[in-house]
Amino acid sequence: MSDILAHREGGVLTLTFNRLEKKNAITGAMYTKLADELQAATADNSVRVVVIQGHAEAFTAGNDLMDFMMNPPKLGAGGELPPVFRFLKYISEFPKPIVAAVAGPAVGIGTTLLFHCELIYAGDNAAFSMPFVNLGVCPEAGSSWFMPALVGYHRAAEKLMLGEPFYAEEAVEMGLVNRIVPPHEVNAYAQAQAAKLAAKPMASLVATKMLMKKSQAHVPALMADEGKIFGEMLVGPAAHEAMSAFMQKRLPDFSKF
Ligand code: COA
Repeated sequence: MSDILAHREGGVLTLTFNRLEKKNAITGAMYTKLADELQAATADNSVRVVVIQGHAEAFTAGNDLMDFMMNPPKLGAGGELPPVFRFLKYISEFPKPIVAAVAGPAVGIGTTLLFHCELIYAGDNAAFSMPFVNLGVCPEAGSSWFMPALVGYHRAAEKLMLGEPFYAEEAVEMGLVNRIVPPHEVNAYAQAQAAKLAAKPMASLVATKMLMKKSQAHVPALMADEGKIFGEMLVGPAAHEAMSAFMQKRLPDFSKF
């Protein structure tokens, strides 16, 4: 069984994280599959809406830390983007609506990918976090702009610097989540909302998204800056200590960094 399931029905492409034994942590191969599906769906008129979902127990634990340590993302010889940045490119440029169903942990990119979605539904067990600093790296996916824009500078600094989880009710109050539903119903609810969107005139949806995104024209350049700094920090000593500590199930020691 693939770690990313892709299912097309009724104009809706559903992408499901399917690696529950690792809390749906995302490997390079999974990013490649997600990027391929989004790239193909961009030009495919039979796909009108995309749903991204996990399971009632976990949306995703973010980057697979072992995979990240072994294969840190870097540009290919011909300048090709590494899988994680290819995924971020295609999700951030995707012209049609994206609906997300989040239950359980949504760590790192599990939270920041939501800034590139239109409708977000959360189980009451959803736990969002962006522990980039705790991992010795920095924000990605445009989150260094999206977070302050969404919640103000100081609250964004708290979420991005302390990296502690916040929960579904706070996420609704922040404006990150549209509605809370029971965890076992969140995928079905997202599907029902996606079906409503899929029945609407496509050109109007695409124009609405394009117009709403006009104020984000600077985000691709910011994402490139974030990606460069993130890539450099990922192979630095603090990230090495943080990821080794996670693998060894101990607390990290940052006293020297
Ligand atoms: N990368 C690799 N493996 C991961 C992972 C990740 N991001 N997140 C979880 N796993 C693995 C664990 O190592 C564990 O594997 P094991 O059973 O072989 O020991 C398994 O998934 C279950 O995780 P566990 O930590 O026991 O589950 P939990 O319910 O106690 O906690 C999380 C869930 C998501 C809160 C916790 O796993 C976590 O903090 N993960 C790291 C998240 C992270 O820092 N992501 C990177 C963001 S950039």
